Amino acid sequence: MMAYFVFLFISLAVVDINCLILPSNTLPINTIQNKDSFQCDNGWHWLQSKKTCISIQDTPLNWSDAESQCVTLGTHLISIDNAFEEDAAKNVMQQYGTCDYYWIGAKRGADGNFSWSDKNQFSYSNFGPGGDNNPRENCTDINERSTFWRTLDCSDKNCFICENPDPSNLPDFAIYTDCAELKEAGQTKNGFYYISTKTGAKKVFCDMEVNGGGWVVIQQRVDETLKFWNQKWNAYKQGFGFFAENSNFWIGNDLIHELSSKDAKVILRIELWGDQNPTSPYKNDYWWSEFNFQLEDESTDYTLHASILQRYPNDWKGTGNASTNWYDVTCEEGVKFSTVDKINDPMSKCVTDYHLGGWWLHYCSTVSLNGEYKPAKYADGYGFMWLIDGEYMINPIKSRMLLRKLL
Ligand SMILES: *[C@@H]1O[C@H](CO)[C@@H](O)[C@H](O)[C@H]1NC(C)=O
Ligand SMILES: *[C@@H]1O[C@H](CO)[C@@H](O)[C@H](O)[C@H]1NC(C)=O
Ligand SMILES: *[C@@H]1O[C@H](CO)[C@@H](O)[C@H](O)[C@H]1NC(C)=O
Ligand SMILES: *[C@@H]1O[C@H](CO)[C@@H](O)[C@H](O)[C@H]1NC(C)=O
Repeated sequence: MMAYFVFLFISLAVVDINCLILPSNTLPINTIQNKDSFQCDNGWHWLQSKKTCISIQDTPLNWSDAESQCVTLGTHLISIDNAFEEDAAKNVMQQYGTCDYYWIGAKRGADGNFSWSDKNQFSYSNFGPGGDNNPRENCTDINERSTFWRTLDCSDKNCFICENPDPSNLPDFAIYTDCAELKEAGQTKNGFYYISTKTGAKKVFCDMEVNGGGWVVIQQRVDETLKFWNQKWNAYKQGFGFFAENSNFWIGNDLIHELSSKDAKVILRIELWGDQNPTSPYKNDYWWSEFNFQLEDESTDYTLHASILQRYPNDWKGTGNASTNWYDVTCEEGVKFSTVDKINDPMSKCVTDYHLGGWWLHYCSTVSLNGEYKPAKYADGYGFMWLIDGEYMINPIKSRMLLRKLL
């Protein structure tokens, strides 16, 4: 109702007097939910005998490009340790693949011995009869029917199989602490990478393209299939959702804290697509904004620090077009996080009735990207919403939140 909208602005007028003169801040983050080993991501298939997920890639590449492609997905080419695994892989190849041969991770090195690209010990092989292990050809593929291996020229193009290993098996793989370091190290493709965190290797999605790349995606919403507003404190702490390219997830407050605290200055980038409101003039628009950001740890109930990002001194309009420093996340400077089971907002119905959590709420908010996807009313302070320039409230169709240190 209009009445609520008016009330919202009255309460803002009282609460946000200091909203436009905030000091700059940073936010923290925490990472990925642990992958349920029996629940492979979309497009990945469970290998029971090995307890890993594999993906059949039907676009032919040479061996090193195939391995790179798997690395981009946070994985390696498949390694095969015994005939049971080989048989399981055969079933997946026959069910989901269209090629006759697939690269596997075995490659002969200068010493003449084979090794696996995922560093598994090389203790099994299944080269076919008839000289299929040609000593002058050093990369290995597998036939989807016979499961015999053969060596061939590494520059040949083949379909291939990626295998998602347990990240704890690859301690030396996650040597970078964020996507910006991966970008500096030469990774330029959007995709999944392992990063090193205080609690071990975590798989994150890196955007390597938008505004210079090197961003860790900490929040993504694409539709209403996953509820965010009623997730509990612990879920927000650890992260929840299905962690994939086009899915809904929250990376977790502990990782957000870590990612936003390890560097002196960290930027939060907000991206918004469209407006669910059928009468909106902005149904297909795109907005973005960047803010200084830091999230304190759980002992402070994840207190937010957010301020405008100035491109030059006295630039009070900030960076981007989702908001020009007007009733946005900077209004939540110093505000604690609230969830349905831990409400730090003095007005509890912001969480229980308006479904704005889990978010940094103090007498509600003008922006909540974790609110209920389909709000009770459009453009009225409910649910998943963002106030464009203090003027027009949208209920986005999609959103992303990304973090990167200030380069
Ligand atoms: C190659 O493998 C053989 C036996 O598997 C081993 O004895 C030899 O040391 C290996 N060579 C190198 C350089 O590791
Ligand atoms: C394959 O590896 C062997 C060493 O085991 C090497 O002599 C040979 O040149 C390699 N072949 C190619 C095509 O690189
Ligand atoms: C694989 O293909 C890439 C180009 O996509 C090329 O740069 C690279 O040299 C190739 N590697 C081999 C071993 O042929
Ligand atoms: C916001 O800026 C981006 C480019 O930076 C532009 O593509 C987009 O159309 C702008 N959005 C609006 C609503 O003007």
